[in-house]
Amino acid sequence: MGLLDGKVAIITGAGGGIGREEALLFAREGAKVVVNDLGGTRDGSGSSDAMAAQVAEEIKAAGGQAAPSFHSVATPEGAAKIVKTAVDAFGRVDILVNNAGIVRDKTLLKMDEGMWDAVIAVHLKGTFLCTQAAAKQMVAQGGGGRIVNTTSVSGMLGNFGQANYAAAKAGIYGLTRTAAIELQKQRITVNAVAPIAKTRLTEDLPMFQSAGDTLTPAHVAPAALFLASDLCADKTGNVLAVAGAQMYIYKVVQSPGKFKDEGGVWTAQEIADHWDAIIKL
Ligand code: NAI
Repeated sequence: MGLLDGKVAIITGAGGGIGREEALLFAREGAKVVVNDLGGTRDGSGSSDAMAAQVAEEIKAAGGQAAPSFHSVATPEGAAKIVKTAVDAFGRVDILVNNAGIVRDKTLLKMDEGMWDAVIAVHLKGTFLCTQAAAKQMVAQGGGGRIVNTTSVSGMLGNFGQANYAAAKAGIYGLTRTAAIELQKQRITVNAVAPIAKTRLTEDLPMFQSAGDTLTPAHVAPAALFLASDLCADKTGNVLAVAGAQMYIYKVVQSPGKFKDEGGVWTAQEIADHWDAIIKL
């Protein structure tokens, strides 16, 4: 018995890195997997069928069921075709993992509009478009489903040189929270993973030089599997972070705050004077 027996899962950006590990694990757990990947470089230029085709073949060679998809998540047509691939091949959609991603790092003062637009398009717009297309299909099937988004420590806490990427990933957090609320009545859970793993996106970062096999995509895939499975049927709107052997969560907290003693409108000076009480958790 696999955790995903009989389920149909779409995983975007599954031609390499974390998405590939998720696709292989989901297939081992019994899912029929649409392996989507545009097949470009890590900055999003170019495209090729090879990456998605190879992972789909790997799954089939191991006895699983898979269909490749070479469409971009970043256009409405692409998102619709990704969902259509699942419906044509396997008849339905039970799980969507929004994992596709690119990076175009530059500090804020040097970032041009093209770098901003490309990164927002793949991560934030792509997650919106695929979520909407898949959720419509899930609702048409009568409801029920799992959506797993991919955010990042960059989006949750910020990171030097990644204004575009951090904004996109923070946007995915807001989208996850709102989709979780809106889709609850349809029994569709919406959660996110925040991974740290050595892949082509991150391998040149100093922290990965000495990481060896301690921070791999294989460490991340079970977190996505948990969120995609019925083990997570009663959990929605969470961000599950995984870095090697460490599993933790991110959440936005609201301080209890402080009411102005005499009521009414705060002055800027009063805010400064009571800052410590306002921010106390
Ligand atoms: P990766 O580069 O190996 O995987 C991303 C995949 O998305 C690639 O195979 C790429 O071809 C595909 N892709 C890019 N644009 C696409 C598009 N428009 N349509 C369809 N597919 C497209 O990198 P990695 O690290 O596996 O990244 C997976 C996800 O995890 C990304 O969303 C990334 O931002 C996120 N992430 C990764 C972290 C890490 O430490 N590796 C940290 C935090 C988040």
